[in-house]
Amino acid sequence: MKRVITYGTFDLLHYGHINLLRRAKEQGDYLIVALSTDEFNWNEKQKKCYFSYEKRKQLLEAIRYVDLVIPEEGWAQKVSDVKEYHVDTFVMGDDWAGKFDFIQEETAAEVIYLARTPEISTTQIKKDLKLTN
Ligand code: CTP
Repeated sequence: MKRVITYGTFDLLHYGHINLLRRAKEQGDYLIVALSTDEFNWNEKQKKCYFSYEKRKQLLEAIRYVDLVIPEEGWAQKVSDVKEYHVDTFVMGDDWAGKFDFIQEETAAEVIYLARTPEISTTQIKKDLKLTN
């Protein structure tokens, strides 16, 4: 069985996220999503989520492409996750292109960057909603 992992916040789940998860699952048979915790987002990215970790996890678990959701609590866990979960393919959106090539060198996993879906993001949704009644 080929195992795939991807990382993200997935707040205010949108079709860009679904496209990413569908294509990530197509890389193998079992998709693990490492979901940023509220603490990690706030402490490391100064990002406040609209939905709590538990709500974001519930939404991801309801998606047919997602087999397992684990917490992402820090930047340094990626290599140990890949080893612990016997991951074959590490997938990220191409906003991170090149940034995780070291995983390919430190583990047996292949690193793939998938093209982002144009024009949609959680940040954009938040901005647009501020402009409407
Ligand atoms: N993603 C994507 N296409 C989009 C938006 C996101 O492929 N239009 C991917 C990202 O590249 C990442 C994953 O979905 O691999 C989770 O992204 P995340 O940062 O949680 O979502 P964004 O909508 O980009 O949120 P933000 O605006 O807060 O960065």
